[in-house]
Amino acid sequence: MSISRSLVAEGRGRMALRNLPLPKIPNDYILVKTKAVALNPTDWKHVYYEDCTGCIVGCDYAGVVERVGSEVKKTWKKGDRVAGFTHGCNPMQPEGGAFAEYVIAKGDIQMRIPDSMCFEAACTLGVGLMTVGQNLYKSLQLPLPGQKQELGSGQDESESPSMILINGGATATGSLAIQFANLSGLQVITTCSEANRSFVCERGAEIVLDYHDDQAGKQINEITDDALEMVLDTISTPQSASLCAIAISSGGGSYNALLDVRCPRSDVDTDVSMAYEMVGEPYQMSGKYFEGTPESLAWAASWIDTIEPLLDGHIRPHPYQILSGGLAEIPTGLQLLQEGKVRARKLVYCVD
Ligand SMILES: NC(=O)c1ccc[n+]([C@@H]2O[C@H](COP(=O)([O-])OP(=O)(O)OC[C@H]3O[C@@H](n4cnc5c(N)ncnc54)[C@H](OP(=O)(O)O)[C@@H]3O)[C@@H](O)[C@H]2O)c1
Repeated sequence: MSISRSLVAEGRGRMALRNLPLPKIPNDYILVKTKAVALNPTDWKHVYYEDCTGCIVGCDYAGVVERVGSEVKKTWKKGDRVAGFTHGCNPMQPEGGAFAEYVIAKGDIQMRIPDSMCFEAACTLGVGLMTVGQNLYKSLQLPLPGQKQELGSGQDESESPSMILINGGATATGSLAIQFANLSGLQVITTCSEANRSFVCERGAEIVLDYHDDQAGKQINEITDDALEMVLDTISTPQSASLCAIAISSGGGSYNALLDVRCPRSDVDTDVSMAYEMVGEPYQMSGKYFEGTPESLAWAASWIDTIEPLLDGHIRPHPYQILSGGLAEIPTGLQLLQEGKVRARKLVYCVD
């Protein structure tokens, strides 16, 4: 074990499989022997639009712990089954991507995989669960899963949120967010194509609108009696922000975006966040420099502790499709994502 076959970005839109030395393990990281990886839109966006030549691509992985850094607090041991996310295509840590035979990952924010879950399902969860935590709980401050019932003791139930719009319920982020919002006791309104209506209902959405209908925002506002105050927009384009702006109460509210898009209403608070922040290290994106904070890392570690028990049967991973060819075929999968040909499913590759 001294070589790790790795998918490396080689200039705009190009990648190549390289035999690299094993990545060095920072003290607060674990080294993982990868079993399966999943694709995210951020992977192709980085390869095509960001300057990340020489960086290992990919964020989401599942595998087996190989080594544990001396400063990792979580009690990992060699052989443990682990999943999570790493910061792929990161010029500030080029070895840190997930599409490789061996992956380094920040030790305290990785998830233990329950026996009931296979590597292929587990590898779909990293970015999605971190994003849900960051938006629904760190930013919008929903009651943590299962805690809404406890609000009765001393707190005014009427002050706690009762509904949320998860715009884009058939996205990988959306299908997890719907489930978590339900576990927090909220009624979920969502949007998707008609073909995915039953899917998002199975995941827990109560009210479903087709986003192709240009009246969808107005209909949501009417159905919710002009009382909707919270939105997670998993699409985060100017068009989706506009739909959400129409849906939100005339009294104002909170709009959470996953890309650099703002709600076009000044009486609505916009929060844009990146899962990368949760690693707690500085990073660069689109020519901008972002500080990582120990507070974000600490929050992420406690979030992972909160959700680990839920992985054992309480949360259903996004539907996934296992493609053949391993790491070598990932560029083809990324191209499918870029062309918008992947609907309501994750593309997964086994690594051996
Ligand atoms: N900030 C962060 O840290 C962060 C984290 C995760 C993702 N993201 C970003 O968030 C976006 C979603 O990522 P993802 O992986 O969750 O998505 P995904 O699984 O790739 O989403 C695919 C789905 O998007 C739905 N969709 C497309 N346009 C829509 C619209 N206008 N309204 C509602 N649904 C629409 C389609 O649903 P139908 O099939 O029903 O049409 C499609 O099935 C990407 O841009 C990604 O880069 C950011």
